[in-house]
Amino acid sequence: MPTLLQIDSSADPSHSRSRALTAAFADAWRARGPEYTVVHRDLHTAPLPHLESSALHWAAADRTAEESVAPEAEALRQEIIDELLDADAVVVGSPLYNYTVPSSLKAWIDRIHVPGVLAPAFDGDAQPLAGKPVVTIVSRGATYDAGTPTEHWDHGSPVLELILGTALGMRQYPITVSATLADRLPALAPLADHAAAEFHDAKTTLERLATTVV
Ligand SMILES: Cc1cc2nc3c(=O)[nH]c(=O)nc-3n(C[C@H](O)[C@H](O)[C@H](O)COP(=O)(O)O)c2cc1C
Repeated sequence: MPTLLQIDSSADPSHSRSRALTAAFADAWRARGPEYTVVHRDLHTAPLPHLESSALHWAAADRTAEESVAPEAEALRQEIIDELLDADAVVVGSPLYNYTVPSSLKAWIDRIHVPGVLAPAFDGDAQPLAGKPVVTIVSRGATYDAGTPTEHWDHGSPVLELILGTALGMRQYPITVSATLADRLPALAPLADHAAAEFHDAKTTLERLATTVV
């Protein structure tokens, strides 16, 4: 039974672009047939706690003698990791908040980037998620075009690429929509048509990707 893990982190329940796009991807996934299921984790409405202990960054076998982890915290990390391992594909909605990923998504990342479990810690360590498709959808209020002063201000997209793509070895399909605040901020109003076209293209791309990614 092919399973999609749909992750949302936008704090906007009604007009979120990233939520609309993860939903479009999930709908297209379900439309492939009744065996195509979706597990939805909403990190905004059901937030994960911040890491209870830095020891959670490590596999149990790699902790020092002073490091201990409460059983509930260990169980929660395992639940999050198992959910990722069990999925055949993953779609992640990630708004740009203060130039980085939302703190709710960061709390999830802190539980999955575990050297020795999902990422190599030492030579020869496996990457059990290597090659698994992950579609990342970054929605940004402003623009970050090459050659402009804000070109390097998006620090959220590189985090997703480094953790999911590089550390975990997943096959990443990055999708970005920008100028989403064009219908709210007068200064961005001239970009409204461009933003709408980019959103439309992203939706079309995602609906096609959902039928071919696995
Ligand atoms: C707390 C907060 C911080 C934000 N910070 C930024 C920012 O640093 N850069 C930016 O381009 N847009 C920023 N925005 C605008 C959002 O990126 C934009 O509204 C985006 O569409 C949010 O994703 P969503 O539509 O899926 O909710 C911020 C919005 C909020 C609520």
